[in-house]
Amino acid sequence: MPNAYISGTGYYVPPRRVTNDELVTEYRIDTSNEWIVQRTGIEERRFADAGVSCSDLALKASEMAIRNAGIDKKAIEMIIFATLSPDQHFPGSGCFLQEKLGLCDGDSATFVPALDIRNQCSGFLYGLATADSMIKSGAVKHVLLVGAEVHSAAIDLTTRGRNVSTLFGDGAGVVVVSATDADRGVRRWNLGADGRNADKLHMRIWDISKRPYIPLDESGNGCMLPEMMYPNMNGKAVFKHAVERMISVLLKTLGDVNQSLNDVDLFLFHQANLRINQFIQQQLGVPEEKFFHNIQRYGNTTAGTIPILLAEAEENGRLKPGMKVAIVVFGSGFTWGCALIDW
Ligand code: UT7
Repeated sequence: MPNAYISGTGYYVPPRRVTNDELVTEYRIDTSNEWIVQRTGIEERRFADAGVSCSDLALKASEMAIRNAGIDKKAIEMIIFATLSPDQHFPGSGCFLQEKLGLCDGDSATFVPALDIRNQCSGFLYGLATADSMIKSGAVKHVLLVGAEVHSAAIDLTTRGRNVSTLFGDGAGVVVVSATDADRGVRRWNLGADGRNADKLHMRIWDISKRPYIPLDESGNGCMLPEMMYPNMNGKAVFKHAVERMISVLLKTLGDVNQSLNDVDLFLFHQANLRINQFIQQQLGVPEEKFFHNIQRYGNTTAGTIPILLAEAEENGRLKPGMKVAIVVFGSGFTWGCALIDW
C-alpha cells in the first residue's frame, strides 16, 4: 500500500489589506484595534475585490502548489475543494477550478473528478483524510486538495455583525497529495463531529423546509433577512468546545501511534483565534516555538487556514523534510480533526 504525502504547497491571498482600524474608519463598525487584538490576536485580514470568486483565489494557489510539486497539471487525478464560501450554491467550486486550470482543454483533457467538501474550518482536514484514503486505496496518485474562502462578500460588515465579521478574511491554500513508496507522509488522522451544536456557528442562507425556501416580498422577489444572510455565532460556546475538542483529538491521535507531544516538531492549529491556540499550548505545556501562526495577518480563512500555514511554513523554512507535524482543527458543525504527518 502506498503512503500519501504532501508533494507541493501553494497559497494566494488577495492584495487588499484591511486593518482593524480600517474596519472602524472605512466600514464604520463600532469596534477597535485593541478589542480585536486583545481577544483574537488579529491585526489585519485580506479582502477580495468584487468580481473575484473562491475558485479564482484557488486557481492561483493551485498553480503554485502544482509548480512546487514538480508535476504537470495533467497528472492531477482528482480535485477536492473545501470551502464554505463557494462560487455558487451549486455546482461545486471544484468544477469551476477544474475548468480554470485548463483540465478540460484540448485533446489531453482529463475531466478529473471534482469533489466539494462542506466541513467549514475542518474542511481541509476532512479533505486530507479523503485524499489519504483515495491514495492508499490505489485509486489515484495525485490529488489537488484546496481550502479557499471569500468571506468578505458574505459577512455582516456593520456593528450588528461585529462579533463575526471582525474575525474573518479571504485566502486560499492548496496542497498536492501524492502517492509514494517512501516511509513518510500522513501517518494517522482522526475526525469528529457533534451536530447537537450546529446552531452555535451557522449561516442558514436558505431554509429548504420553507415554501418557498426564502421569503418573498409583495412583488414575488426574494427577501433575505440579515439573520439568514450572514453567519451567526455563539463565540463563548465555540471557544469552550474548541479548546476541549482540539486537546482531546490531538492527544488521541498521538496515542494511536504511541507518540507524545514531545515527538512533534511543529504544531499547526486552525487559525480562528490566537488566544484559543495559546490557551491550548499553555494547557499542554508545549513550547511556544513549536507553533506557527499567521492569523495576525490573515484573520480566520476557515478551510484555508491550514494549507496557507503549510505553504508559508515551507516557504520560510519553518517546515522541513523529516519533521513531524501535528495539524489540529475545529469549527462549525461542530466538526474537528487531527492529522499527524511525517513531512
Ligand atoms: O473557526 C471557529 C470560528 N470561531 C471561533 O473560534 C470563535 C471563538 N470565540 C471567540 O473567539 C470569542 O468568543 C470572540 C472573540 C468571538 C468574542 O469574545 P468574547 O469575550 O466571548 O465576547 P462576547 O461575544 O461575549 O461579547 C462581549 C461583548 C459584547 O458586548 P456587550 O453585550 O457586553 O455590550 C459584544 O457585543 O463584546 C462585544 N463585541 C465586540 N466589541 C467590539 C463582540 N464583538 C466585538 C467586536 N468589537 N468585534
